[in-house]
Amino acid sequence: MAVILVVDDEPLQRGILKTILDSEGYETYTAASGKEALAIAKKIHPEIILTDLKMEGMDGIELLEAIPKEPFEPSIIIITAHGTISSAVEAVKKGAFDYLTKPIDKDTLLLIIRRAVERASLLKENIHLQRELFDKFKIEGIIGKSAKMQKPIEVIKRIAPSTATVLIRGESGTGKELIAKAIHYNSPRRIKPFTAINCAAIPDNLFESELFGYEPGAFTGAVSRKEGLFQITNGGTLFLDEIGDLSLPMQSKLLRTLQDKEIRRLGGKETIKVDVRIITATNKDLEKELAMKNFRDDLYYRLKVVTIDLPPLRERTEDIPELVNFFINKYNREFGKRIKSTEPAALKILSEYHWPGNIRQLETVIERAVLMNDRGTITARDIQDELPSGRPAGQLNYDIPDEGIDFENLEKELIQKAMIKAGGVATKAARLLGMSYKTFIYRLEKFNLSSSSAKNGKME
Ligand SMILES: Nc1ncnc2c1ncn2[C@@H]1O[C@H](COP(=O)(O)OP(=O)(O)OP(=O)(O)O)[C@@H](O)[C@H]1O
Ligand SMILES: [Mg+2]
Repeated sequence: MAVILVVDDEPLQRGILKTILDSEGYETYTAASGKEALAIAKKIHPEIILTDLKMEGMDGIELLEAIPKEPFEPSIIIITAHGTISSAVEAVKKGAFDYLTKPIDKDTLLLIIRRAVERASLLKENIHLQRELFDKFKIEGIIGKSAKMQKPIEVIKRIAPSTATVLIRGESGTGKELIAKAIHYNSPRRIKPFTAINCAAIPDNLFESELFGYEPGAFTGAVSRKEGLFQITNGGTLFLDEIGDLSLPMQSKLLRTLQDKEIRRLGGKETIKVDVRIITATNKDLEKELAMKNFRDDLYYRLKVVTIDLPPLRERTEDIPELVNFFINKYNREFGKRIKSTEPAALKILSEYHWPGNIRQLETVIERAVLMNDRGTITARDIQDELPSGRPAGQLNYDIPDEGIDFENLEKELIQKAMIKAGGVATKAARLLGMSYKTFIYRLEKFNLSSSSAKNGKME
């Protein structure tokens, strides 16, 4: 049951309130002054404080202002005499939960108390969730003992408490969002919201209304006012994922907001000050986008005050055993399994794989291996079953340029390269490309390439 503190300098009133609340099963304490209330509150942490407004010494409003908000904020209900409702309203403005007027009606009292109890439990729940988030995103919880991860982790520790804008770069699945959250939850902003939006997934008009909000009538379908992410996140951190995909017009709008630190809702006149830390992420080569004039350089320099480069998993294979254990534990819990170990041979396969999808892909592989396993040990076989078969895909390191590619030529080049690498042995070259021998020979003939000319590495 909720703990309630009744504060009143009139002993009779105190007694009546305590009797009513006790009989409803609440754990009720009393204090005869604001000062005494403060002292008791520090010991019992009441969820609810029911206080008279007018008291000698510290009055109800002063008590409201002085009461500690930690470990959670109590809901304060102010009791006023008939003539002083305006001060009760003032108290509510200052953060009181509600007010009651004298003479106190028992049903109204109990109704307000019940609502306050509900709010208190929500607040407590929230605090609980927040604690979980703090723990989850502790920097110590980021797996990365490898040399390649040490630098980013050092940078994160150093810059998290500041308000510096951060650009996180890394291939897909390297942990960009995780790092963004770690920065937020290790900064003084942690008690304010962390929000995220993916710039690639949203068309411009929607992006604008998501970020800045709108007024009713701003466009067809805008029936009521909507607050944008900038306002919702005020005081917190906004994570803009895949920033490299933001259109040029949106880049200008974002830049202006970062410069002015204020926004205007679509269709609105009023400008609203916002204090939002921006973290962005990209797996694109932004410098290349700059050169191609797809990305504004003034915005780029504003975003990259701090840059964090996350290495691909294949370059930090020392971390694989710890990551594997971490994911085994996670999925043991989720699926009610009891897997205790991983065969060395399985770890070897995992360390040699090239992980185009990085940690996210590793997580999926372990998730499935845990789900399918009933023996308590993950074997090489389990891992082989879960890794994509055939040749690893996505390893070639080039983008499709804007002017497009000549696929036939590319195919020919790959076949030539495979033949050279295979020392002219067609069966081996076919295997390198993940093709059947028949398909490979067909292509070899199609391009007029012969296996003999490959041997000396000089194909026509
Ligand atoms: N160092 C790490 N320790 C533990 N888990 C990690 C680590 N890095 C990433 N992960 C986990 O891997 C998954 C992918 O990470 P995340 O979503 O942050 O990657 P991303 O770089 O944002 O990927 P994408 O580019 O595809 O959006 C998440 O489940 C995340 O919790
Ligand atoms: Mg991501």
